[in-house]
Amino acid sequence: MRRGSLVQLILLGLVAAAITTAVAWFVPWLPEAGGEEADRIHFVYWFTTVIAIGVFSVVAAVLTYSVLKFRARPDDDSDGPPVHGHTGLEIVWTAIPTVLVTAISIVSAVVLAQNSHAGDNPLKVRVVAQQFAWQFTYPNGQTYGHMTVPVNRTVELDITAKDVLHSFWVPQLSQKQDAVVGQHNKLVITPTKVNTYPIICTELCGLGHSLMRSRIEVMTKADYDKWYSTGGRKAGQDPGLAVFNQFGCGGCHTFKAASAGGKVGPDLDKLKEEAATAKKPLEDFIRESIEDPNAYVQPGYSPGVMPPFKGQIQPNDLDALVKFLAENAQ
Ligand code: CUA
Repeated sequence: MRRGSLVQLILLGLVAAAITTAVAWFVPWLPEAGGEEADRIHFVYWFTTVIAIGVFSVVAAVLTYSVLKFRARPDDDSDGPPVHGHTGLEIVWTAIPTVLVTAISIVSAVVLAQNSHAGDNPLKVRVVAQQFAWQFTYPNGQTYGHMTVPVNRTVELDITAKDVLHSFWVPQLSQKQDAVVGQHNKLVITPTKVNTYPIICTELCGLGHSLMRSRIEVMTKADYDKWYSTGGRKAGQDPGLAVFNQFGCGGCHTFKAASAGGKVGPDLDKLKEEAATAKKPLEDFIRESIEDPNAYVQPGYSPGVMPPFKGQIQPNDLDALVKFLAENAQ
């Protein structure tokens, strides 16, 4: 090959590499990494992307060069020269991809092993998924509708489901795990930034799938210890409001007294009107709607979207919640 041709090939390769590198680098393909596992996963993405850019640039350069240099001239009706392959070339283009794919699989295997290692003293949280809500139970037996964790501590989740398949996912933490009835699946997360991220159900699980969201609050250790001992309840706070927040009712419902603006379920500020439509006494109606939401479904809403909370809220907490809702309903 002449020197000038080689220079042309290299220039074409550099142009292809520059364009694809720009697309990889400047487009925000991945969410900001918020945990150790996410950092490792992002490393695998970049490791693979760099290899892909290299392969693409070589192929694009040779292809473009060939199209320009060896294209048929307008007056050329002859067949091309017969080509019988090139053993050396075939060995090279088999060996290089083999090495690259092997390297990717080794890096991936190491990262997967590291990402499922919880260490000696993880914070253990039990996660139960059901249509269409998440529940998180801490070592002290308290259950919440959202997660709270200390920063830089490894958390081991024990994930299961009550009804159908669901899947736990926090995009910024990069870890995903299916929630399966009768199985206890493990997932390790180690958040490294004080922040709040969405928890998303990422397995189509029914009508309310897209609404099956919660949040994970990552706090400093001091804030977390305080939250853990008080359950997030503030001194002097209405116990019913505390329960309302604990189970994340505001994620779906509007209720002014709780500063909640959820739009998924019925507006709880109109509870009196709704109880009258259902022809039930207010407190009985509220209690029934929490324990067995499908007993009466407000017109315009679908049954089966709200999970039944029967047996999931401590009796005195349920009493406080019913009282809080009844007293503050319009
Ligand atoms: Cu639960 Cu989708």
